[in-house]
Amino acid sequence: MIWGELENILKNNKKAERKLIITDGVFSMDGDIAPLDQITSLAEEYDAMIFVDDCHGEGVLGGGRGIVSHFGLQGRVNFEVGSYSKALGVQGGILAGSEDVRRHALNHSRSWLLSGSQPPAVAAAQKASIEVLMSEPEHVEKLWDNTNYFRKKLQSLGFDTGVSETPIIPVMCGESKKAQEMSKELRNEGVMVGAIVFPMVATDKARVRAQMSAGLSKEDIDIVLNSFEKCGKKIGLI
Ligand SMILES: Cc1ncc(COP(=O)(O)O)c(C=O)c1O
Repeated sequence: MIWGELENILKNNKKAERKLIITDGVFSMDGDIAPLDQITSLAEEYDAMIFVDDCHGEGVLGGGRGIVSHFGLQGRVNFEVGSYSKALGVQGGILAGSEDVRRHALNHSRSWLLSGSQPPAVAAAQKASIEVLMSEPEHVEKLWDNTNYFRKKLQSLGFDTGVSETPIIPVMCGESKKAQEMSKELRNEGVMVGAIVFPMVATDKARVRAQMSAGLSKEDIDIVLNSFEKCGKKIGLI
């Protein structure tokens, strides 16, 4: 969405009893970051609430705390949902908000009421993942170091990494067939990078999508870059 468009919608619905702006924090296909600072200013001007899905920002942005911390918006975003299944490496959902939000969720969430909850071992792993995030900042630093290295090298090889600003790094391929071919060639090299094709993205915006990890060394990344170069040349992407 173009942000002028969001303002127009808010302007045209000034009288609505309740307004809620819903956005991702980090967009999962392109790896770009929502301008949550601008969205929050608009929300405050037009008395709207904000719901941000920060599945791909938690453990990544704001020293690992996510997009709200990245933009310094603590206390100004009504609902944040996230996941333990991405950077945190566990499983399960996260909802953060005010005490009212917490109580509302406890009384209305389908996955909380009338359903088996997370087993204690999963809850313990979730808690441990947050403790690691808070006490070992080197993982997030390494993640960004690896991300910047990998993206810059891909670009210098001639690949188009779109508008990515985060460890989600697409390599644009154009048609679906090209992305599937690139993914297959990389797999033959021992590199697993999934093809993302229509209807997940527009027909002419197919890509292979890499997600960087703090667990990789520069030597690991160089091996992957060599494979990208070889496969990219073979199928005519670079
Ligand atoms: C933006 C976004 N929100 C939510 C989810 C769901 O996460 P999970 O069900 O693994 O906790 C995903 C998973 O891919 C996602 O990309």
